Amino acid sequence: MATTCMMTMNAQPKLSASNIDEVLQAMTLEEKARLLVGGANNFFGDQAVVGGEATLVAGAAGTSPAIPRLGIPATVLTDGPAGVRIDPTRKGTTQTYYATGFPIGTCLASTWNTELVTKVGEAIGNETKEYRCDVILGPGMNLHRSPLCGRNFEYYSEDPFVTGKIAAAYINGVQSQGVGVSAKHFAVNSQETERTSVDERVSQRAARELYLRGFEIAVRESDPWTIMASYNKVNGQFSMGNRDLLTSILRDDWGFKGIVMTDWIGIRKGLETITEVQAGNDLMEPGQPAQVKEIVEGVKSGKLPMADVDRNVRRMLEYIVKTPSFRQYAATNKPDLKAHAAITRQSACEGIVLLKNNGCLPWNVGRSTIKTVALFGENSYNFLSGGVGSGCVHTPYVVDMVEGLKNAGIKSSEVLTDIYRKYIDYAKVKFQVERHPAKWFQTEAMGPQKYPEIGINAIAINKEVRGADAAIITIGRQAGEGIDRDLETEFNIIPEERQLIIDVCQAFHAAGKPVVVIINSGSVIETASWKSYPDAIICAWQPGEEGGNSVADIMTGKVNPSGKLTMTWPIAATDHPSTRNFPGMVDFYSYQMMGSGGREKANYDYTNHEEDIYVGYRYFDTFNKEVSYPFGFGLSYTTFAYSKPVVKVNGNDISVNVTVKNTGSVSGKEVVQVYITAPEGQIEKPAQELKAFAKTRELQPGEQQVLTMQIPVRMLASFDEAGSQWLTEAGNYTFKIGSSSRDIKCTAIAKVNQYIEKVSNALAPKARLNLLKQ
Ligand code: BGC
Repeated sequence: MATTCMMTMNAQPKLSASNIDEVLQAMTLEEKARLLVGGANNFFGDQAVVGGEATLVAGAAGTSPAIPRLGIPATVLTDGPAGVRIDPTRKGTTQTYYATGFPIGTCLASTWNTELVTKVGEAIGNETKEYRCDVILGPGMNLHRSPLCGRNFEYYSEDPFVTGKIAAAYINGVQSQGVGVSAKHFAVNSQETERTSVDERVSQRAARELYLRGFEIAVRESDPWTIMASYNKVNGQFSMGNRDLLTSILRDDWGFKGIVMTDWIGIRKGLETITEVQAGNDLMEPGQPAQVKEIVEGVKSGKLPMADVDRNVRRMLEYIVKTPSFRQYAATNKPDLKAHAAITRQSACEGIVLLKNNGCLPWNVGRSTIKTVALFGENSYNFLSGGVGSGCVHTPYVVDMVEGLKNAGIKSSEVLTDIYRKYIDYAKVKFQVERHPAKWFQTEAMGPQKYPEIGINAIAINKEVRGADAAIITIGRQAGEGIDRDLETEFNIIPEERQLIIDVCQAFHAAGKPVVVIINSGSVIETASWKSYPDAIICAWQPGEEGGNSVADIMTGKVNPSGKLTMTWPIAATDHPSTRNFPGMVDFYSYQMMGSGGREKANYDYTNHEEDIYVGYRYFDTFNKEVSYPFGFGLSYTTFAYSKPVVKVNGNDISVNVTVKNTGSVSGKEVVQVYITAPEGQIEKPAQELKAFAKTRELQPGEQQVLTMQIPVRMLASFDEAGSQWLTEAGNYTFKIGSSSRDIKCTAIAKVNQYIEKVSNALAPKARLNLLKQ
């Protein structure tokens, strides 16, 4: 009897954390191949799901397939990163499945508060689990190489250190809930135009120091369950089949232990599934039966070593045993949306950046003379909580500016409210019909839509002055997946917006009444040409479903702003050297219509990263270029004093100590940034680079706090291509402690010893790039 039982178990073991080898052995080649290909069209019974036709979780992005015979459950992958993206309603039930809309990436990063980001991550992880999903497809970690990238809103910064630290905080929060993340898009996915085919040509140094560094920090500090390979090529090879990226760098150099999945493309022209398997890509999403067949045939013909398949299958099984699906977690479908709304409101407040204030803010309710405001701009009434495309979350509600101000005790002009609300109802219908041909995401299902601004003429504006104590103008921008931002209409402000700002400022200032501009955009916009007009400018980003409340908290001084920019706001977008090698919208249409005549076309078929390591402030600060708002900038309602810093070097560890004191009259938080200037050496360096940051607690007037920041000497290293190594040259380093890259409060010099770390010689460009030099 005992023998029969053993035999059955051997023939058909059920997966557990301790019998992965046994299960692997019991799998047929076909089953192994199936496990490496996502669940779309890849059914075992009714277990597989994809997109809106899901049978497990409606609206989830994909799955890994089930093999019930071996106790292997399907796992569910859902989009993020700003919350769980699933369908809010389902057939046959009146129950709703709305998820909390948290601040988008740029807003979250602008908090510079890793503890708070972890709290957001915990809430997102909890909703992922309670909505019966196993992995959230985020964080988005690509760098803001150009302000025109369409998906910058999902990403954190132009700086890899901020990116890595914020991502690690998010991942640690999500994964503390027993679900996984997919850190994306690995790597160098810095443009949306032709994203599925463009070859991003980049030096090994810029790749390692900028585009990969954030991922490296996240892997080392938060152990993501999964990483998503990007659509594009890097130096001639698709990321999804790029062994240098997915194995040499990710696993051999950094010690990544999780699984790699593809971005959502299926079969690629010019890329075989078996190349992806060999490169170390474990899961093809969303998955097609032909890919299963290719793997099976690849093994049978000897083109694909069985050892590679087994290696990836083992990693898949190791992933699966960690998931809630494997644990048969009983999802409630009822996360605590109320508690999470409080978290999103708080995190948005810390991410909002006060760009200008001539003293008119805050409007402390009760003590302020501002009781009624005239609200201008379509987005005051149609507030954009998040971005569109796969990054859009179906939120239960969005608090607009009317409601946010009302909740704070401030009324808005009824006449304007009526005009704008009627316009928005009309625009909803009109612009669904007349939407931009290239903007596939311009549908309600893809997220909150931005409608064109209506012209409010000077006479109507003047009429508002008498009944209002102040004016607010909201300038909105929306970008999404698959298309980059247009310089003229999305980065620059359009003539109607400029006129509105000028007319409102003229009319209200004539009556001695202040004007505040709120920027409701996921990414940077042009500010230099109009910032002198209003009294205050608030960058609210797309701050999640509680948006209007968060902005009102800042305006009324309930929360003292402490957000700081994680990217430079240039005077013109073209000031970034990357724009020389970035696709333009106009050009794109001619390319699409006429093709490239058989020849490769720059920025569409390939993009040369000629600016090399000079991205963002690394360029502006090294080449002494004027900017509109520098990296790290953000105002407060109070002031802070910094003590002289103490820098101690102990072997390979550096500690920086600084005391920050609130010298103003209201409580507030300060973000302290440590920039480092390297001594003259054999490797050319940017003028300064951010190597540490910390945020104080809420300091009362007169209160102070000692901040201690640790910097490993390896973080000071540059990538030395000749030696395939990280190299910190010995010498005297200057530690500059400031509240932006252009506002250094105090400095210290410390002697640092040489540090060398050999790594693989991966990702060499196929041809020489004409790199920018000092
Ligand atoms: C996007 C990913 C997303 C995936 C699944 C892709 O097009 O690039 O960010 O996670 O779709 O929806």
